[in-house]
Amino acid sequence: VNPVAWEGEAVRILDQRKLPVEEAYLECRDVESVADAIRSLAVRGAPAIGIAAGFGVALAAVRAPARSRGELLRELRRAGRMLIAARPTAVNLPWAVGRVVEAASAASDVDAAREAAVAEALAVAGREDEACLLMAELGQALVPEKANVLTHCNTGRLACAAGFGTAQGVMYAAHRAGKRVHVWVDETRPVLQGSRLTAWELQRLGVPMTLVADSAAGLLMAGGRVDLVIVGADRIAANGDVANKIGTYQLAVLAAHHGVPLYVTAPTSTIDPATPTGRDILIEERAPEEVTAPGGVPFAPAGTPALNPAFDVTPAALVTAIITERGVVRPPYRSGLRRILGHRGRRGE
Ligand code: MRU
Repeated sequence: VNPVAWEGEAVRILDQRKLPVEEAYLECRDVESVADAIRSLAVRGAPAIGIAAGFGVALAAVRAPARSRGELLRELRRAGRMLIAARPTAVNLPWAVGRVVEAASAASDVDAAREAAVAEALAVAGREDEACLLMAELGQALVPEKANVLTHCNTGRLACAAGFGTAQGVMYAAHRAGKRVHVWVDETRPVLQGSRLTAWELQRLGVPMTLVADSAAGLLMAGGRVDLVIVGADRIAANGDVANKIGTYQLAVLAAHHGVPLYVTAPTSTIDPATPTGRDILIEERAPEEVTAPGGVPFAPAGTPALNPAFDVTPAALVTAIITERGVVRPPYRSGLRRILGHRGRRGE
């Protein structure tokens, strides 16, 4: 399955809203439809929306009628703003847009700028692919020979358009290495990324798993039935605070209470040195209907008010380690994250 693919004059996106019932694809022929696919969760997951946004800018470069370099760059910046506004929490989105626009800006004429935008969007996708494979290998070394792993949301290839994903890549690599891994899959209300997407992917990969309601985590941990929690991230602040799917924070509190390690797996594109702490991360609020009527089926009386924050922030103190493609970072995170990003920071790789 390829969740996001560059097709030269279009971006092909697997419509994840329809999974696991139907495998349908969207052909996005302009930047507006790429932004719409990101906003509506047809494509979701931090690295995947970064890659899709990079391709969105490349699409604008290929299709814009601009005749001068300046005109094209203005069009790319407009496209970039639209893509970034589609979802505010995952930093991979502005990161990828920034890289593609910067690459085009460095070109000397309009044709070279078009080529540079496409080449950089493809390079972003390639870089995330390599990062996912490296994280999987580094992370699987932390998984015991026999392990019950609890995970939240979806962190597989669907969420990354790369490798076998972030946290899920770690679990799969441990399974492939012959470890006896069993995964507790949180269903992940309200959008059900766990039951619709993670269960679908793990089943296809042959990884033993059991689906549970989000509220089962406490009972499982209290009963000694969870050896470790592995999750992904949408933005990691400079101090190691982690924004991830709503519900991650309560899992982290439970894990700390029960002495269960909690690992965060994320590529360096998810680390945001410009965001000092988790308090500075903007948490996306989505439509209340995702809570009151998931998939259009009423779950609450008509007119029930509902709040729908899509992410929460887990304080760095509750995170055992952060697995990145450049190494496993342990507390203190501020210096550890700075070290793996290098003195040139995330952008200047
Ligand atoms: O709202 P989503 O489905 O885009 O949220 C995705 C997550 O929270 C993932 O856990 C996260 O992106 C990290 S793993 C790719």
